[in-house]
Amino acid sequence: MINLIFLGPPGVGKGTQAKMVSDRYSIPQISTGDMLRAAVKEGTDLGKEAKTYMDAGELVPDRIVIGLIAEKIESGDCVNGFILDGFPRTIAQAEELDRILNEKKIELTKVVSVSAPDEELIKRLSGRRTCSSCGEVFHLVFNPPTNDGKCDKCGGDLFQRDDDKEETIRERLRVYKEQTEPLINYYKSKGLLADIDGAQNIDAVFDNICSLIGPKG
Ligand code: AP5
Repeated sequence: MINLIFLGPPGVGKGTQAKMVSDRYSIPQISTGDMLRAAVKEGTDLGKEAKTYMDAGELVPDRIVIGLIAEKIESGDCVNGFILDGFPRTIAQAEELDRILNEKKIELTKVVSVSAPDEELIKRLSGRRTCSSCGEVFHLVFNPPTNDGKCDKCGGDLFQRDDDKEETIRERLRVYKEQTEPLINYYKSKGLLADIDGAQNIDAVFDNICSLIGPKG
C-alpha cells in the first residue's frame, strides 16, 4: 500500500504529478482543491462558503477540508493507498490526519515535498488552462494543447481558474509560506520528508518521484 502526501506551493506541479503517479501506480489522487471546486460548481452550501476564501487566495477553514478528507478515507476509496494532493495545509490539518490514520492503522509512506522559485510558480499559474469537462491541466507555453482553447483528451473548452489572477497568486504564495511551509519541518521530524526539485520539466520531476516510490508492485 502506497500512501503519499504531495506538499508544495501553488503551481509547483502537485496536481500534474499526482495525476501521473495515480495512473502509474493505480492509486487514487485526492485533491482537496478539486473537491472544493466541484462543490462550488454544484452550488452546495459548503461550496458557497468555500468560494469566498478560494477567490481571495485564502485557505478554506480547517473544519471544512478535514470533513472532506475524513469522509473520503471512511468511504473505503483509499483501501489500496492514496495520494493526498493539497492536504494537509496547516499544522492542525496534519495533526487531525495523523489521528484519523492512527485510528485506522494506516501508515504514511512518504511526504513528497516539491519546490520551485516564486517566479517560476507565477509563470506556471498565469499560463495554466484547465478543461471544463474532464479537468485535464495544460499550460499555454510549457504544456500547450494541440488546438487552441480545446482539451486534447476530450475536446472540452479550456478555462483559466478564478484564483490564477496575478494578485490572487501572490496572496496564495504568501499564505503558503505562512501556514503550509511549517509542514516541511513537521514531516521532516517524523522522517517522512523527501525533497524533489520541481523546477525541472514535467517528465524529469515524474522520474524523480517514481525513483523515490520504487517499482510498481
Ligand atoms: P489547490 O487547487 O490545491 O491549489 P494549489 O495548492 O494552489 O495548487 P495548484 O492547483 O494551483 O497548483 P499545482 O501545484 O497542483 O500545480 P499544477 O500541477 O496545476 O487549492 C485551491 C484553493 O482551494 C486554495 O487556495 C484554498 O483556498 C483551497 N484549498 C485547497 N486545499 C485546501 C486545504 N487543504 N486547506 C484549506 N484550503 C484548501 O501546475 C500548474 C501549471 O504548471 C499547469 O499549467 C501545469 O501544466 C504547469 N506545470 C506543472 N509542472 C510543470 C513543470 N515541471 N514544468 C513546467 N510547467 C509545469
